[in-house]
Amino acid sequence: MAMNGAMIGKPINRIDGRLKVTGSAKYAAEFAVPGVVHAVLVEGTIGAGSIAGFDLAEAQGMPGVLAIITPDNAGKLESPKNMPQAVAGPLLQNHDILYNGQHVAVVVAETLQQAQAAGARVRVHYNNGEVATSMDALLGQAYVPKHFRSGQRPPDSNRGDSEGAFSTGAVKLDTTYVTPLEHHNPMEPHATIAAWNGNKLTVWTATQGISGAQNTLAGQFGLDKADVRVIDPYVGGGFGCKGNTWPPATFAALAARMVRRPVKLVLSRAQMFTSNGYRPRTVQKLKLAADNDGKLLSMRHDGFSSMSQPVLGEFVEPVALATEMLYACPNVAITHRLVALNAPLPTYMRAPGESSGVYALESAMDEMAVALKMDPIEFRLRNYAETDPHENKPFASKALRACYQQGAAAFGWDKRTPEPRSMRDGHVLVGWGFATSTYPTNRQPATVRARMNRDGSVVVQSGTQDLGTGTYTVMTQVAADTLGIPIQRIRFELGDSVLPPAPVSGGSSTVPSVAPAVAAACKGLLAKIKDLAIADPSGGWHNQSPDVLQVRDGLVIGPDRRVSITSLLERHNQPFIEATVKGAPGDEKKQYSLHAFGAQFAEVRVDADLGTIRVTRFVGAFDGGRILNAKTARSQLIGGITFGIGMALLEETLVDGETGRIVNPNVSEYLMPVNADVPDIQTIIVQNDETRSNPLGVKGIGELPMVGVAAAIANAVYHATGVRVRKVPIRIEDVLV
Ligand code: MOS
Repeated sequence: MAMNGAMIGKPINRIDGRLKVTGSAKYAAEFAVPGVVHAVLVEGTIGAGSIAGFDLAEAQGMPGVLAIITPDNAGKLESPKNMPQAVAGPLLQNHDILYNGQHVAVVVAETLQQAQAAGARVRVHYNNGEVATSMDALLGQAYVPKHFRSGQRPPDSNRGDSEGAFSTGAVKLDTTYVTPLEHHNPMEPHATIAAWNGNKLTVWTATQGISGAQNTLAGQFGLDKADVRVIDPYVGGGFGCKGNTWPPATFAALAARMVRRPVKLVLSRAQMFTSNGYRPRTVQKLKLAADNDGKLLSMRHDGFSSMSQPVLGEFVEPVALATEMLYACPNVAITHRLVALNAPLPTYMRAPGESSGVYALESAMDEMAVALKMDPIEFRLRNYAETDPHENKPFASKALRACYQQGAAAFGWDKRTPEPRSMRDGHVLVGWGFATSTYPTNRQPATVRARMNRDGSVVVQSGTQDLGTGTYTVMTQVAADTLGIPIQRIRFELGDSVLPPAPVSGGSSTVPSVAPAVAAACKGLLAKIKDLAIADPSGGWHNQSPDVLQVRDGLVIGPDRRVSITSLLERHNQPFIEATVKGAPGDEKKQYSLHAFGAQFAEVRVDADLGTIRVTRFVGAFDGGRILNAKTARSQLIGGITFGIGMALLEETLVDGETGRIVNPNVSEYLMPVNADVPDIQTIIVQNDETRSNPLGVKGIGELPMVGVAAAIANAVYHATGVRVRKVPIRIEDVLV
């Protein structure tokens, strides 16, 4: 699709920046809905068993209490069709307790404080069951996922003979890596305001997918989709935990129906640890073998991820998918298995699969390079996959070699001495580590409407989301470029289910899905304007080819004359002219393997006496396709790398083995990187102009920059200390040996 390119890529400021810094951007909980009352969740306090009964008299007698919803009065909710994830419960449908912190009641009162006070006085009697918390103890009972990748492919794959080839290897590795539970912790908590008008439901809810929320709620309450409106113009971070429609949104709607008032339900930070998924713990067994020249002969990656009780649905951390495609190796086997625990349902978290899986794979690749006495980048290059070895197809584009080269040059990799502990700086051990990144390019159908008003202003609409990533800004840039008008003349609208439908903002797919549709809709609008101009018998271009016309700066320009769009619309008595276009993937996925790539370089400094680990430099070089805005892209890249620093050194949700209760459900004990933990991060965009992935050549960069970061840091820690830590987060005590 031709672009004049004036705005694409420009590092313009966020269009919604002023609204955000002045507090006037409205998040879900901030809408002023008249007559709203407040709901709070009551969480159970045992890890498994059942509810024997409630003692509600005291809570019901508290001031302002309007209703207490329990499994005894919640009524039956339907299951939305074809959405095993969306039914993520439990939804107060029975007395079973499946995990500690499970919602057992919802208290509704006139004020938040009244609801909280009454919630604290809900008494629950339990029958205690046996609590399964140890994934390691239950590894032998791991089971095969039933809905892996929504049933699009099997959870296992095999090419060649990995076992046979392993036995012939000159250099071998057979080891296990472990990653912990992690929680997303977006700044904005989950929040829903629900209001009924007869049988029509409106919800303002914090979500990565207004269409999904609309479908789920319509299904649960037996409504037509058209009778559910979901509004969410600004999202304060999601990272995956707002991808599903979780029980609290359903409870808000249920409560509003029960008390016949609009109901607001906002989660506390602690409730964010039990209500909306998490990255599951993984145990990953890696077996690699290579010949003496560093050619990979065999790879095997067996991934186990922790799950809730299966009755809640299914979520698999697809850790081994990158192992299938990243390196040219003839013999590769992967498996994915689940271990059921008394835990909430896990979910997508930034680069689900790749974050945990590439940590293990790229740690193992580093161990192999050490064993081969080969530079880690050289080892990757010897096994560089020119085509996708799993799908057996060419890549739409792959500039990974350029990522390696440009990243290494910026980092100064050639000055690295390979021996561990060889780069001391006084009592500080300096380590340099490296890892590859990859993430698939995902595109889904998206519909966009572009409308030009008589005054030449343009409104472009799509029911997509802006998670804080810059959707408003980059879509406006694409529209401005296609229409040839300044961004100030364009308003992009999103976050309302009455707008044309767009997919969930997950899998880094918003830009690859919606941006090409924005360009197509704007092209469609230009074509309609030209058609209107040549349809006009008195206009001078009657019945001429539209190709002789150009639309620019609010004018229709022909060979001999120009006409303003305002006068054109006036003459045809039209207040506006619009085009609606559904963009959808073509057959590119059949022809090509679609992936983004990157190279991650970390420097750590480890205090030789104290074992404290600091990341002191970081360089990431990325082939993320065409970049729509250099500034919002850089924010995504440094945000992803920061997430990776968290995974490597800090983040871990701790569960009490006896009770299954999360013991650090807060941001003081769940450690996340703060400014002092994050060095100056250098990011490099390796330009890769192609239009095979999609008409704009965009790949999505929300998740790519996180992948490989934990491995690069773990490999740097090994290089600094000589200690190979095979789990994250890496703590002081892991390197003090
Ligand atoms: Mo992302 S974890 O697909 O929101």
